[in-house]
Amino acid sequence: MTNKAHTQTLIIVYSYHHNNTLKVAEVMANMLHAIIKTPGEVTLNDLKHYDLIGFGSGIDSGRHYKPLLELAATLPQEERKPAFIFSTSGVQGQLKVAKDHAKLRSILVSKGYVVLDEFSCKGFNTNSFLKFFGGMNKGKPDADDLNRAMTFARNLRSATL
Ligand SMILES: Cc1cc2nc3c(=O)[nH]c(=O)nc-3n(C[C@H](O)[C@H](O)[C@H](O)COP(=O)(O)O)c2cc1C
Repeated sequence: MTNKAHTQTLIIVYSYHHNNTLKVAEVMANMLHAIIKTPGEVTLNDLKHYDLIGFGSGIDSGRHYKPLLELAATLPQEERKPAFIFSTSGVQGQLKVAKDHAKLRSILVSKGYVVLDEFSCKGFNTNSFLKFFGGMNKGKPDADDLNRAMTFARNLRSATL
């Protein structure tokens, strides 16, 4: 029997607007000793080697970015595989984040994943007309957000050890 030192974690992230979600992913990866890949880099064969998988991106039109949702839709069926979801977005709020995460969450649940926890914070946003006013959430995610991301990852680690 193999005796793994710790949970093998993969974080799949799609982040392009200001690399906001990538910053969050990097902090989490550091805490979880995880590998980060984009949806384009992940092969379905890869997934077998990980016992915890994180899925994160910015939010566009009230859901995670399309390349992440499309990857999730191609995942093979699993049996209670642990996962977590995260995002950054222009506008936050408990109900809003729950709604923003709903599409990805429902795909993952339909594929047999168990979503252990979810994280979100504000991200710098210069989408559309906002760029004419210097954008919203300048400096986000900030040190506080990244600290929360670290605590989130630490709690996940204790939950999966
Ligand atoms: C095309 C586009 C659409 C967006 N739609 C939303 C949205 O529906 N709700 C929201 O709260 N933020 C929205 N945002 C803001 C982004 O989710 C936010 O800036 C995020 O932090 C970007 O993440 P990234 O830098 O990792 O790509 C949108 C941004 C862009 C560029």
